Amino acid sequence: MEYFEPDYFHYKNNQLYCEELPVQEIAEDIGSPAYIYSKNYFIDRYKEFDEAFKEIKHTIFYACKSNFNLSVIKTFTDIGSGVDVNSEGELLRALKVGVDPQKIIMSGVGKTSEEIKLAIEKDLLMIKAESEEEIFLINEIAASLNKTARVAIRVNPDVDAQTHPYISTGLAENKFGVDTETALKLFRKQKDLKNIKFTGIDMHIGSQIIKVEPFVEAAKKLSELILQLKSDGIFLEHLDMGGGVGSTYNNEKTFAVKDFANALLPLLKKLECDVFFEPGRYLIANGGILLTKVLYNKKNHDKNFIVVDSAMNDLLRPSIYSAYHHIQPVVLKNNRKDIVADIVGPVCESGDFFAKKREIAQSNHGEYLAIMSAGAYGMPMASNYNSRRRPAEVLVDGKNYKIIRSRETFDHLFFDEPELI
Ligand SMILES: Cc1ncc(COP(=O)(O)O)c(C=O)c1O
Repeated sequence: MEYFEPDYFHYKNNQLYCEELPVQEIAEDIGSPAYIYSKNYFIDRYKEFDEAFKEIKHTIFYACKSNFNLSVIKTFTDIGSGVDVNSEGELLRALKVGVDPQKIIMSGVGKTSEEIKLAIEKDLLMIKAESEEEIFLINEIAASLNKTARVAIRVNPDVDAQTHPYISTGLAENKFGVDTETALKLFRKQKDLKNIKFTGIDMHIGSQIIKVEPFVEAAKKLSELILQLKSDGIFLEHLDMGGGVGSTYNNEKTFAVKDFANALLPLLKKLECDVFFEPGRYLIANGGILLTKVLYNKKNHDKNFIVVDSAMNDLLRPSIYSAYHHIQPVVLKNNRKDIVADIVGPVCESGDFFAKKREIAQSNHGEYLAIMSAGAYGMPMASNYNSRRRPAEVLVDGKNYKIIRSRETFDHLFFDEPELI
């Protein structure tokens, strides 16, 4: 079998390392399942993105829905990132980390009044509105607080991001944003909306996008809109390009962020406004693994199964998107043979799998496996299904690691059900 070694994850003396630490050592200290992240991977990816757009005024807002651990958010904000939040909970996380509200923007197709109120009270840099009704509600809430809310309109540019249908968000059929005609109409209502200041225009066409063209097509549509508004005397401060830049999970040919910048810069330079980006996956997917332990090898009829101690409740992506993750031993051995097996968890669903018909090195009871590329949309989608405790999260920095979220205790499973009826 082939081993996947993204930056900061590599084999040395037959041991998988995260940065300068053998993963086996972490496993023996804290057990499994556990998410293990490389801090320096996160930092390098952020700097690479930032550097690629240095010719224009831009701000990166880490999309913390992809991994909302407080220490992960802090890793990015410590090096200058803003934060894109998608709920009251994510906003409270960013505030807990100490992020300046002027570096926080809020997304969400269905924000509640409470979420909008909190965003206005905290003076966030910008709220992205996704419908006419939402704009009126923001105006009303801002008026009741005697404040002016800074608002961008999320436009749905009707562009095919050529990604999994569940993570495509910029097609006319998707629930997100408003069409360009409606956006124009809404921007022109500025003078009637006394407690809103329209500051920008926003898009997010999907996730795990591996071609530059959909971004260019969408940016063209939005820049035409910006120019049209300019000719109407409406000057916007920013264009928000959203997130969506893809990562390599298997053998997808993704684009380099430098090529992404080269394709967009000629267009963006003409706009004379600040450009925002909201990457999530690109910054973190390959900076994390899910560590798991082999429980059993079994054969059903002619089929091999490797049953491991993590499950769909820990990492949902294979079950819901049929997503591919490399799975490889933490310790390599010369005498292993490769087998073809399904790698499955203990949950009582046939959808509880990490890989199907996968060629994998034979691994025995008690050995650890690394499920690669698990930094993004892993832990934030974890649940307590089957009353399983959510895993620990660990951040490695060079030779050291910190537990940035402990494994849930059994008490945690019961704490919000204090009384029996
Ligand atoms: C509005 C918005 N911005 C940014 C992102 C981050 O996307 P990605 O992780 O693909 O970069 C998402 C993800 O769904 C999103 O909905």
